[in-house]
Amino acid sequence: MKIGVFDSGLGGLVITKAFVEAMPEYDYVYYGDTLHLPYGEKTSGQILSYTIEAIKFLISQNCGLIIIACNTATSIALRYLQQRFIPSFAPDIKVLGVVIPTVEEALSDNASRVGVLATPATVRSHIYQTELHKIKPDLAVFEVAAPKLVPAIESDDFATAKTLAKEYIGQFEHIDSLILGCTHYPLLKTEFRKLLPETTKVVSQDELMGDKLKDYLRRHIEIDIGLSRGGTLQILVSRKDDKYCKVANMLFPFVTIEEAR
Ligand code: DGL
Repeated sequence: MKIGVFDSGLGGLVITKAFVEAMPEYDYVYYGDTLHLPYGEKTSGQILSYTIEAIKFLISQNCGLIIIACNTATSIALRYLQQRFIPSFAPDIKVLGVVIPTVEEALSDNASRVGVLATPATVRSHIYQTELHKIKPDLAVFEVAAPKLVPAIESDDFATAKTLAKEYIGQFEHIDSLILGCTHYPLLKTEFRKLLPETTKVVSQDELMGDKLKDYLRRHIEIDIGLSRGGTLQILVSRKDDKYCKVANMLFPFVTIEEAR
């Protein structure tokens, strides 16, 4: 069985790179639903149904452990998948998201005021606030939706993205930890760090997910034992175009991108 990584587009490749660097021995299948990108602006019903289709697809590709790298899909669909869909459709498959590991990391330095920057759908779900409060009920949480940031990054317009980052950061007051709650924001992490005081911890998923998955597999030997170790990576998308190939090849120069649905 392989490790599947799912995202609404190619932003999740940044996290995939962290997995491959931390654990190059496994076989990975990445699936980006570029046909329906961006999820952040869609209704919860649409996000749920696209995510279910993507998970079914990764299961058909022989993935035994699937990580939803997309914050929006994790926010809207993970609970349903884990509690309802997977137990009846494929009980031996494990599906994980990015929110819990990110929350753990944000709270690791005893933060008392945490900011969350994410897509409108993720903010609407309040998943970060809910999970942060489960661990630390008196925590002050500030959630800001950044609808314009993904489109700016997607169109490779980093000048606009930097201006937007400054605007959005201005909406947080005295936070000691900032969660970058979207696959695309690690690409701007240096900018966020410049905009915030040095004492504010910027939690970037590409820096934590590699270790978190490694730790998970160490603790779940029953899953680890079923994973194949051929050191391969396949990148599949629901709609292929030159722009996506360019982005993917920046991160993985020797991997070809295939269209699959
Ligand atoms: N992958 C999404 C996320 O992490 C960002 C892109 C989108 O809106 O689909 O929330």
